[in-house]
Amino acid sequence: MKSTQALMPTLGALLSLVSSPALALDLRPIEAPQAGLESRAADYSALNLQSVETFLWGGSDSNNAAMANLTVYMHDKAENILNLERFKDLVTSLKCAKDSATLTVNSDDAFEHLMDAWNWTNEQENNTFVMIAGSGQCDSSNKRQPYVISSVKYDKDTNTATLGGQQSDWKTVAHTYDLHIGGMPSSKLETRDYSDSYALNFTHTIDFGKWAINAVDDVKITAVCSDCYTTGEFDFNFDIKTTLGIPDGASLTLNPKGVSAVIDPTIGLVGDLSDKKSYEKTFLTIPIDGVSVADIIELGPAIAFKGSLDIGPLKGTASITTGVTLTLNDDAEFTVDLLSPSDATADGWSPQITGDDTSVSAMISGGVSLGVVADIEFDITVLGKGLSAGIGLNPLAGVLLSAIDSSKGACSNDPDHHQYGVQLGPYAGVYLQASVSDVATVTITSETISLPTECYGFGSPLTSGASTTVVPTSTAVPTASSTSVIPSSSAAVNHRAPRPTSF
Ligand SMILES: *[C@@H]1O[C@H](CO)[C@@H](O)[C@H](O)[C@H]1NC(C)=O
Ligand SMILES: *[C@@H]1O[C@H](CO)[C@@H](O)[C@H](O)[C@H]1NC(C)=O
Ligand SMILES: *[C@@H]1O[C@H](CO)[C@@H](O)[C@H](O)[C@H]1NC(C)=O
Ligand SMILES: *[C@@H]1O[C@H](CO)[C@@H](O)[C@H](O)[C@H]1NC(C)=O
Repeated sequence: MKSTQALMPTLGALLSLVSSPALALDLRPIEAPQAGLESRAADYSALNLQSVETFLWGGSDSNNAAMANLTVYMHDKAENILNLERFKDLVTSLKCAKDSATLTVNSDDAFEHLMDAWNWTNEQENNTFVMIAGSGQCDSSNKRQPYVISSVKYDKDTNTATLGGQQSDWKTVAHTYDLHIGGMPSSKLETRDYSDSYALNFTHTIDFGKWAINAVDDVKITAVCSDCYTTGEFDFNFDIKTTLGIPDGASLTLNPKGVSAVIDPTIGLVGDLSDKKSYEKTFLTIPIDGVSVADIIELGPAIAFKGSLDIGPLKGTASITTGVTLTLNDDAEFTVDLLSPSDATADGWSPQITGDDTSVSAMISGGVSLGVVADIEFDITVLGKGLSAGIGLNPLAGVLLSAIDSSKGACSNDPDHHQYGVQLGPYAGVYLQASVSDVATVTITSETISLPTECYGFGSPLTSGASTTVVPTSTAVPTASSTSVIPSSSAAVNHRAPRPTSF
């Protein structure tokens, strides 16, 4: 997979990536219905050469079902297309060779119609048609085999047509097409009974272990997630439109289904950190079962889970525990135009956020935020051309800490009126970012909300006093315009690895 994320040099290889080979869901041809053959007055229109033809493929495993729909357009006056599946029952014999195919039909009437319909090929030197032999028609393989036919000879005695031309491949014959790949549409497809739709499994436990960082001399940072996980799945659809070999539209759409993320880090700091630092580390890469249609498309999604830590400036030695649960709305939808990624659209991604209790073990001031970056990446190869696209979903939990020194008692709700205290400003947010190959990275959503503040008292209890001093800190409570490093910048999501180039 392409997750060649450069780790921060200071991190070292603390934990190895978990990865296992993904299986591809192999889509098989869904045979086109035969046209007109059941009507009483024989209708042989299925033998006619066409300028447009649609092919479907479908497949399922225990969890997923997917469908591909390829519509091929024959633009040129001198080319047509013929799908043998459409009159399969008229064919009594089909022999396929490298440069010809010999086809026999079951009636004189059908053969008369065939001669009328196909002789166009003989009328001009350059008239050709693409013939697609269905799964199992040419040989026992379950692929559709394209041919380019440039001449036809007839034997009326045996109702046999000898088609002269070349065996070809989809890459050559499909120059102008629309291709859609995604879950099964709810409308029934006669041939199969698919109960599930194709979705990216987003139910995973993210085990950080103990993420230990030697930030600078004498400053150590640790991050531990006691129970960080994600739930749900993403439905997706991919569409591409190509004219004469040049893509003129390609898009990827994702919808969350029951997606939530729970992040509950404990972050420890030993020493004073004078600057803001950002760290990122990949903890888990999960290849998702891909989808492939022989010779047409291969789609290999993967999800990489990274920890993203933004920390500092921080003064004090303490551990900080915070937590957040984010839930995405099932109505959310995100579409990225792979040819013009800045045209991404996203609706409904504002998460529902619930904060857990936040606590600190000692006096500390500054700010820290920990996120789980879920990078959902797609490597797509369509008719020999590759591209990659991805979204980065980054739910995060953070806290701003202000140390207080007050002779009246630092925290108003503290019955013991401790002189020292820490005012906690927890916040939670989500960033959603799309990227397409090396071309562009677009921030789709950037939401941060402040959670109720809390105050923790430390030191010896007081009885009476005078003034309150908030120890100055360089970070502030999050606001949209704040220059505070943690909540308002998109620092946590700007470290995406360059993606492989495309097209
Ligand atoms: C396949 O795509 C074509 C053209 O985009 C469309 O007209 C047709 O309804 C689609 N078929 C299915 C089964 O989705
Ligand atoms: C097919 O077309 C060729 C060239 O125009 C013509 O000579 C031939 O008679 C036609 N055959 C039939 C069966 O129509
Ligand atoms: C096919 O041949 C005809 C007649 O020679 C010519 O007018 C036409 O441009 C040719 N078409 C192609 C696609 O070469
Ligand atoms: C999703 O992945 C998790 C973790 O690998 C697994 O336990 C779960 O069964 C999967 N769910 C589906 C629907 O495949």
